[in-house]
Amino acid sequence: MREVSSPEQAALALAHGHLAILPTETVYGLGADADNREAVARIFTTKNRPANHPVIVHISQQEHIYMWATQIPDYAVDLGTAFWPGPMTLVLNRLPRAGDYLTGGQETIALRVSNHPVFQEVLKELAHKTNDPSVGIAAPSANRFGSVSPTTLAHAVEELGDHLTDEDVALNGGSSRVGVESTIIDATGSEPIILRHGGITAEDIESVIKLSQSESDVRAPGTLASHYAPNKQLRLITHSELLDTQPGALIAMSDVETPFGFTRMATPKNVNEYAQLLYAAIRDADKSSESVIYVVPPTGGGIAAAIRDRLNRAATK
Ligand code: TXA
Ligand code: MG
Repeated sequence: MREVSSPEQAALALAHGHLAILPTETVYGLGADADNREAVARIFTTKNRPANHPVIVHISQQEHIYMWATQIPDYAVDLGTAFWPGPMTLVLNRLPRAGDYLTGGQETIALRVSNHPVFQEVLKELAHKTNDPSVGIAAPSANRFGSVSPTTLAHAVEELGDHLTDEDVALNGGSSRVGVESTIIDATGSEPIILRHGGITAEDIESVIKLSQSESDVRAPGTLASHYAPNKQLRLITHSELLDTQPGALIAMSDVETPFGFTRMATPKNVNEYAQLLYAAIRDADKSSESVIYVVPPTGGGIAAAIRDRLNRAATK
């Protein structure tokens, strides 16, 4: 793998069927040209990801959903208008272009328009090189299957560097602004259903369209199993329990003081900062000399729901 300095070079690698580690506003992704079956297959082997886990296809603008999906409900168009480009993914009924190699054999395709300027630029260059404005980049998070998503280029390279070839590339775009993955919405039914909490909150969505109260029958494999897990044990704990606990690494909001003997890994002042810092803090804690990672989850709504969701999975081993 080599680090390139321009979106144009990353697009060139993608157009030639290679993989690219790319920045998005949520987390770093491992990208391939979504029309290139062999390249997408390499995403799975590189991540050690099971073949039946579908990937998100990133497109440059909302208008291109019609080149990948069909039977699109009005509310999906409204959600796209409200939150794209941004940290939201819509699961829609697929067109034949969205082959089994992308959808894990499901009849649905997950689509997202990222707002990261570097990612947008890569898509623009790729559209130019492939002569296809609706070109997509298939990209799961740039981590080995089951482990913590990367929010910096260094973390992505740490995860995947050894598993990429000399022709694959990596492009820096700074620290991911949101820090947790996109909100995934099942938009195949008469009302939307949240499959994975993320950067666009339930409150945000409810400002546009009522969320369904029912369970989705869409399968979203990565959202079920234990995921986002560090190597060390991660334990969720309340502020008051902390005082009766053997010391370890600690991640908590700034209103929680560090008890004697603990190693503080992050001190976010609000929930947005919590989301931004969380994955890097878990990585640092994993590398520290402490044997247990204690986390006091944030309370309340908004992005706190996404943080609690990831923490619950990280704590399940
Ligand atoms: O923020 C994000 O969404 C990041 C950045 C890179 O865009 N991507 C990401 O991808 O988190 P990944 O593959 O790590 O997680 C995508 C999730 C998986 O849990 C997968 O099961 C689900 O999306 N998914 C993908 N396609 C789907 C589909 N057609 N139906 C249901 N779930 C789907
Ligand atoms: Mg992932």
